[in-house]
Amino acid sequence: GKVAVMMGGTSSEREVSLMSGGGVLAALRAKGVDAHAFDPAEKPLSALKDEGFERVFIALHGPFGEDGTLQGALETLGIPYTGCGVMASAIGMDKWRTKLVWQGAGLPVPAFRLLDDATDFGAVEKELGLPLFVKPATEGSSIGVTKVKNRGELRAAFEEANKYDSIVIAEAFVGGGEFTCAIVGDSVLPTIKIEPATEFYDYQAKYFRDDTVYRCPSGLSDAVEAEARELARVAFKVLGGRGWGRVDFLMDEAGKIYLLEVNTAPGMTSHSLVPMAARQAGVSYEELCVTILGMAHV
Ligand code: DAL
Ligand code: MG
Repeated sequence: GKVAVMMGGTSSEREVSLMSGGGVLAALRAKGVDAHAFDPAEKPLSALKDEGFERVFIALHGPFGEDGTLQGALETLGIPYTGCGVMASAIGMDKWRTKLVWQGAGLPVPAFRLLDDATDFGAVEKELGLPLFVKPATEGSSIGVTKVKNRGELRAAFEEANKYDSIVIAEAFVGGGEFTCAIVGDSVLPTIKIEPATEFYDYQAKYFRDDTVYRCPSGLSDAVEAEARELARVAFKVLGGRGWGRVDFLMDEAGKIYLLEVNTAPGMTSHSLVPMAARQAGVSYEELCVTILGMAHV
């Protein structure tokens, strides 16, 4: 039957989604799937029914795509869709609440503080130490994120993040490296180590720069690699994740892992991480797309 690859949308990750969706669409078609692009910014969701779509591949990122709202609508319409359900999507879109749930489950997260207009910014700089990261809770692709390196700069970073979300968090810096684990069905794919040439793994480093170094295999010892994958599996499970997703984490100099966030509709661009990990596991981009679609549910 007809498959809609949902891409574009209205979030600030629209351009990333168009790149993800373009890749997915071409891959599914190459595998003989009757796939068509569907941009919810251009058409109402009721068109999915009117046009006879039987399944949806969600290649949208950010609010109204990755945050449970679309998932709830598709549940209501009775159209099977890829990836996480309503709850995991909703919590996963919110970095603050994700950390609270993980903390509650006894999983390791970097020290963090919620920021608002009344915050004593100087005290937070002291408490978390510098550098530190400031992030809007519900954005992806590092949009609105600032690395604060000097005292007195936290307020400006808060104001920047606050343009994107009323919930803003400050997060302690963990300096031993950034990693990610992709989850597809029951498998956790090989860990990727990310070495940005920029100050941190920002929007440009993620999608446009060719000097970001990705190590997959990660170079971690077998024991630490296994530990990282197991932690990613548990972190995803605690949030109620299903289908596929990607758990991002940091490591300190002593090799201790700190969970950062989960992406419930991860990037599928040519520079993206889940396809990279799949390739390392011997799964092509096309096969990956077909596998994810095969797990679509309602
Ligand atoms: N939010 C982007 C798309 C990612 O996590 O891959
Ligand atoms: Mg994200």
